[in-house]
Amino acid sequence: QLLSPAEGVLQGKHVLITAGPTREAVDPVRYVSNHSSGKMGFALAAVAQQMGAEVTLIAGPCHLPTPPQVKRIDVESAEQMLKAVQDRVTAADFFIACAAVADYRPTAVADSKIKKSASSMTLELVRNPDILATVASSSKPPFTVGFAAETHAVADYAQDKLKRKRLAMIAANDVSDTSIGFNSDENAISLFWLDSQQQLQSKPLDKASKQQIARGILEQAARLHTSNDY
Ligand code: CTP
Ligand code: CA
Repeated sequence: QLLSPAEGVLQGKHVLITAGPTREAVDPVRYVSNHSSGKMGFALAAVAQQMGAEVTLIAGPCHLPTPPQVKRIDVESAEQMLKAVQDRVTAADFFIACAAVADYRPTAVADSKIKKSASSMTLELVRNPDILATVASSSKPPFTVGFAAETHAVADYAQDKLKRKRLAMIAANDVSDTSIGFNSDENAISLFWLDSQQQLQSKPLDKASKQQIARGILEQAARLHTSNDY
């Protein structure tokens, strides 16, 4: 059988991926989370492995089978996800932050189930650490790819995140279109990066299966990493 052109492109490379939502405990029986299915991150893990990489997948709670030959580490909260990433990131050539990390967590986790009393209550939240920005600003970061989930001004916010978080590349996702993203099997994104002259470059990946989108992201990342043009 003939190998497709992308096969073996990531041979000998270690790819670290975050996927799925995080879950932030309120009390022993409740949490704050989001609708991320994990499908995009799991597709990235499966395709990276097919392209020859050694893949570690740090997954928040999601009901998906582990792709063949992928090392999966299950976590719940953003803080656990950060710890799992930091324990493994020095060995990685590529870091892809696909997880929908909860931006905030409850300031305090109640030891026992909170009972209802008043007609309203306020839940105080505190900012979670930014896993992607933490990795990208480390002293010797891997080739770091972020995602930007936006409902409006998608390209503008994505380019801002690319620069502010000092990423090698960003995949911008329009989550206002419910036929793509989150729970869907398809996606459409735009890739943005700064070349070695600091000129903004982009490449649209038109609506396709999450497997095909994953392949497009990984091929572009491998190309930039190899040519050093970022
Ligand atoms: N991310 C992360 N850790 C966080 C928040 C986000 O690693 N605590 C990563 C996501 O995995 C994604 C990227 O940062 O790759 C952008 O996530 P997004 O929610 O679009 O952006 P934020 O920086 O959180 O900004 P906002 O939600 O305000 O748009
Ligand atoms: Ca966010």
